Amino acid sequence: MRLEYSEHQITEEDKLTIRLLDRAYNLEVKLDFQLYQDCDLLKRRVRLINHGDRAVKLEQVLSASVPLPGDCGDFQLTGLIGAHLLETKIERQPIRAGRHVLEGRQLYTGHAANPFFALDASGGQGEGATETTGQVWFGGLEWSGNWKIVVEQVRSPEQLVRVSAGINDYDFAWQLQPSASFQTPWLVLGYTGKGFGQASRNLHRYQLDHLLPKPQATQLRPVLYNSWEAVGFDVNAISQLALAEKAAKLGVEVFVVDDGWFGRRNSDKAGLGDWWPNPTKFPKGLAPLIERVEALGMDFGLWVEPEMVNPDSDLYRAHPDWVYHFVGRTPSLSRNQLILNLARPDVKEYVLTMLDVVLSRYNIKYLKWDYNRPISEAGWPSASLEQQREISVRHVRSLYDIVAQLRGKHPEVLFEACASGGGRADMGSLAHFDHAWASDNTDPFDRLAIQQGYMLAYAPKTMYAWVTQSDHNRANYSLQYRFHSAMMGSLGIGTNLNNWSESELKQAQEFIAEYKTIRSCIQHGQVYRLTGLNGRPGNQAVQYQAQDAQTGVVLAFQQREHFWQNRHRLQLQNLKPYRVYYLKGDLADGEHTRVSGQALMEYGVLPRFEGQYSSALVGYGCEIIDTKGV
Ligand code: GLA
Repeated sequence: MRLEYSEHQITEEDKLTIRLLDRAYNLEVKLDFQLYQDCDLLKRRVRLINHGDRAVKLEQVLSASVPLPGDCGDFQLTGLIGAHLLETKIERQPIRAGRHVLEGRQLYTGHAANPFFALDASGGQGEGATETTGQVWFGGLEWSGNWKIVVEQVRSPEQLVRVSAGINDYDFAWQLQPSASFQTPWLVLGYTGKGFGQASRNLHRYQLDHLLPKPQATQLRPVLYNSWEAVGFDVNAISQLALAEKAAKLGVEVFVVDDGWFGRRNSDKAGLGDWWPNPTKFPKGLAPLIERVEALGMDFGLWVEPEMVNPDSDLYRAHPDWVYHFVGRTPSLSRNQLILNLARPDVKEYVLTMLDVVLSRYNIKYLKWDYNRPISEAGWPSASLEQQREISVRHVRSLYDIVAQLRGKHPEVLFEACASGGGRADMGSLAHFDHAWASDNTDPFDRLAIQQGYMLAYAPKTMYAWVTQSDHNRANYSLQYRFHSAMMGSLGIGTNLNNWSESELKQAQEFIAEYKTIRSCIQHGQVYRLTGLNGRPGNQAVQYQAQDAQTGVVLAFQQREHFWQNRHRLQLQNLKPYRVYYLKGDLADGEHTRVSGQALMEYGVLPRFEGQYSSALVGYGCEIIDTKGV
């Protein structure tokens, strides 16, 4: 393709479109730029319009390809790498000659890598950026399907680093028909000279103020209860009601029944696709339970996995051709399930109608939308071979469209994006769903590493975290440690409440009440990682500062320490130096409770830790009168 500049247009000060033309194909290419001055970010996407009279085959259309300055020294790439139960692990690698590819190509975003990147430069000094200093170029894709981010070092003849990102061209082709258009997802791009902390804050602010669906974007996320880790598939009207009564007493605001409530679902072997209440578990349907949950003062939520079907389901028996498959090959199962072909308009319409019926019939305020397998046989036998290579894009577009239509009809429902844990945590999801599930690993210590990676790219509000009984590390965590770890984002409870003693229930009630007093700070404030990205995540401390910068809270964790080790004071960030701050919470003996901003930023504060796997919560607030005037 040979593109020539045709014209450009600037609208509303912060939007630029550059129009290019390929005269041979009569193809118009529009490069859209949108600036977000309030969070110092730029977005780019590409639109193609076929003005010719023949179809044009698109084989790769990225959202943008950006050269970084060549005179900044050596670059390092920071990515969020992982697996199921070990998502969003922060990994850094030096950029050497050649291509470094982060990608997902399993139809969904995936666990192996996340569509986020950060590149920091040594500036010729041999050191890269830190939490508070240094140059960082960063960004993320608003896309939940096959994606790729390619970082390439080229010499031309000087050294240059280029980042290219967009829909993955793996098994992709798109027939652009005459008069039709094709649009890429947005690529969000940012630069800061103030280190990784500022990069995260810019992304968080963009997500909170511009990306998340409205009006829920400005509403605080409720404290939720989820049944999955408590009882697995063994949900029924009686046991759920008993749990709901206990949850309500704790201060839970939305009660979510997870997997197992529908069809013949007693294990993962059957039922997906049959979205009506299991008659043995819920003999009178869901309505009586929902009414009781509401009478207890909570909203009701439900788990669904609408893109999937078990072969052992009425839906599959009626429509075996509705799944992705190749003729003559038995489709491969993963978690005993197959993927519905949402590229087909009839299947998409069916899924939309089915969910609309569920949301209309019951008073549901929260839908956990799961997706639990990668694609294997990406076949669509009734379509042409060309069209079959459009599956990866059509599927995700249908997903987004279904959610958007449901939101239009049921504007009071919160939608959670989940894919076997954190497989759908990305900015494409966050443009359509209200938050994401970061990981099925709810061990509070493991979770600190996962959450640190998650929050490098995504706002804490978009990350639910549950207090459960999980203990992969045989650490016998305290309830406080479990709560503090889960309070780093939107708080949930996932434990079997029948296993908590009266005293544990009382403590939990107090933690939930405390969380409610700090949650606007956690969910809507600014994040400062006081221990940076390089330390052990088990020893991290995060400061959340309210938007008005008057109050804040620090959550700090200690994995273990030798008795001879000096304890680390935490230097807070972005306080007013001449103001006096009041401190309260878990402070070490001898710590002052009335300290100037300057002292807190330079000398710091020492939290009180009680041995290994311990945690502390310290709140701070401004005194009304300045000591010096700022
Ligand atoms: C996935 C989710 C879990 C839970 C189960 C239910 O693994 O990540 O949170 O909902 O499915 O089957």
